[in-house]
Amino acid sequence: MRQEKSFALITGASSGIGKGIAWYCGSRKMNLLLISLPNEGLSEVAREIREKHDVIIDYFETDLSQLESPESVYKWVIEKKYAVNILVNNAGVAGTAVFENSDPAYSDIRIMVNIRALTLLTRYFIPELKKQEKSYILNVGSLSAFFSIPYKTVYSASKAYVVNFSRALRYELKGSPISVSVVCPNGVRTNAGTHARIEAHGAKARLTAIPVEVLAKNAIEKMLTGKFLYIPLGVNRFLILLQKFIPTALQQRMLTREFMKEVKVS
Ligand SMILES: NC(=O)c1ccc[n+]([C@@H]2O[C@H](COP(=O)([O-])OP(=O)(O)OC[C@H]3O[C@@H](n4cnc5c(N)ncnc54)[C@H](OP(=O)(O)O)[C@@H]3O)[C@@H](O)[C@H]2O)c1
Repeated sequence: MRQEKSFALITGASSGIGKGIAWYCGSRKMNLLLISLPNEGLSEVAREIREKHDVIIDYFETDLSQLESPESVYKWVIEKKYAVNILVNNAGVAGTAVFENSDPAYSDIRIMVNIRALTLLTRYFIPELKKQEKSYILNVGSLSAFFSIPYKTVYSASKAYVVNFSRALRYELKGSPISVSVVCPNGVRTNAGTHARIEAHGAKARLTAIPVEVLAKNAIEKMLTGKFLYIPLGVNRFLILLQKFIPTALQQRMLTREFMKEVKVS
């Protein structure tokens, strides 16, 4: 049964890409449910979007790396009787590290947020999304999903999971009202860490980077057309094509050399 006021639920909405997506969805008069870590200014983001775009916004602060967190988001939505027609799994933790020297907690948080929270939120919300005439899941992957990146071992593998999970789920849900999409940007200047990482790679990284506002708009527009995979910028799509022609061992040596630069600035 279709419910009247529907909401786009966006994780990681207090900053970066998630905040950009929240602003764009607000500009399209979508009502919003914003999720982020506690004490990161989410109430302020909600207030500013509400004032500018006159949409209904509620927010919930939780640490998605905690075991009970995805279920607590779901319970909050159900208790408040919100109807969700768009789920944007954007929250994610990036970073660069020498794996053998890294704290086990470094890997754990990336697995918990990038993989576990995304998977469980999707599972919890499918029955809700199915109540809508038309609904959408947008998962935020990364161009790194298509490469095995030394020093970004857990991160790139977690994003490969996001792409594979999304593709498989899209086919399971064929014939249902739910369309599953994934967006895989390369660099996006969202915080001090991503600024430093983009700069570490020099001119070619600047060429492959996209502004948050452009990414947010395009990702939502592509999602609404039902497109599965959106890789921003022709140069990034070319990199994936090029990869098919470079022997794996050579590719890995090039990636090792390139991403060593990030270790030095991290
Ligand atoms: N920026 C890039 O170059 C780039 C490129 C490819 C893909 N991506 C992907 O895009 C997504 C957003 O990244 P971003 O660059 O916008 O990063 P960001 O500015 O650091 O934003 C990440 C968002 O996720 C939230 N988050 C992180 N850990 C969380 C946790 N434990 N519980 C709840 N929320 C948590 C953050 O909340 P708080 O603000 O409350 O900390 C923040 O709102 C990620 O999935 C990332 O992997 C980014």
